[in-house]
Amino acid sequence: MTFDLFDSLPPEPDDDPTETLAPGAVLLRRFARDDDQALLAAVGDVTASAPWRHLITPGGLRMSVAMTNCGSYGWVSDRAGYRYDPIDPDSGLPWPSLPAPFLSLAARAAAAGGYDGFVPDACLINRYLPGTRLSLHQDRDEQDMRAPIVSVSLGLPATFLFGGLRRADRPARVRLAHGDVVVWGGPSRLVFHGIAPLADGDHPLLGHERINLTFRKAR
Ligand code: SIN
Ligand code: FE2
Repeated sequence: MTFDLFDSLPPEPDDDPTETLAPGAVLLRRFARDDDQALLAAVGDVTASAPWRHLITPGGLRMSVAMTNCGSYGWVSDRAGYRYDPIDPDSGLPWPSLPAPFLSLAARAAAAGGYDGFVPDACLINRYLPGTRLSLHQDRDEQDMRAPIVSVSLGLPATFLFGGLRRADRPARVRLAHGDVVVWGGPSRLVFHGIAPLADGDHPLLGHERINLTFRKAR
C-alpha cells in the first residue's frame, strides 16, 4: 500500500470545473484544453492572412493588446469609432473565415453555459504580452444582445476583471488559465469586464503570450 500525501489535503477551489460568476455568466475551467493545439494552429492560419495589429482608440491611443479577427465581421477601432467591419482595413480583403475548431468549441461552450444554438459570426483574437492590459468595457457593438459572448483563454494566466452593469461596480478578480472558457449572456450580457496587466511567465505552448478568443454574434 502506498501513502499519498495529497489524499489528505482539501481540494483546491479551482478543482470545480464550473463556476457561476453572476446570473447568466459561467466560468468553464479547462473546457478548451483538449482543443488547444487545434485552436492555436487555426490562430496561426488566421494571422498568416490577417496579421496582428495594434488598433487606435477613438481617442487616439494605441491599444497595448494586439488584435486580429476572423469570421464574417471583424471588430475594429480607429479615430472614427468602434464598429464591426466585413473587410480587414489593413488588407482590403474579407477577414479569414471562422475555422472549424473555433465554431465547434464556441457552440459546445455556449451550450455548456446554458446557451443552446450559438452560431458566432465574429471572433476577435487578442494577444497579450507581459504588462499589457484591457481596460474595463462592455461588449455593446453587436446587434443581437440575446446571443452570449464566449471567451477562450490560452497561454499565460490572466486576471479577468468581471464587474457589473455599471462602470463603477467593483469588479471581481477571476483567474483565467490555459483552456478556461467564460460564457456571459442574458442578464450579464452587458457587464463591464477587462484584463489586469498580464504577469510574466513561461507557458509551455505560448511562452510569454496569452491569447484570447472572443466569439460574438455581431449581426
Ligand atoms: C475582451 O473583452 O475582448 C477580451 C477579454 C479577455 O482577453 O479575456
Ligand atoms: Fe470584451
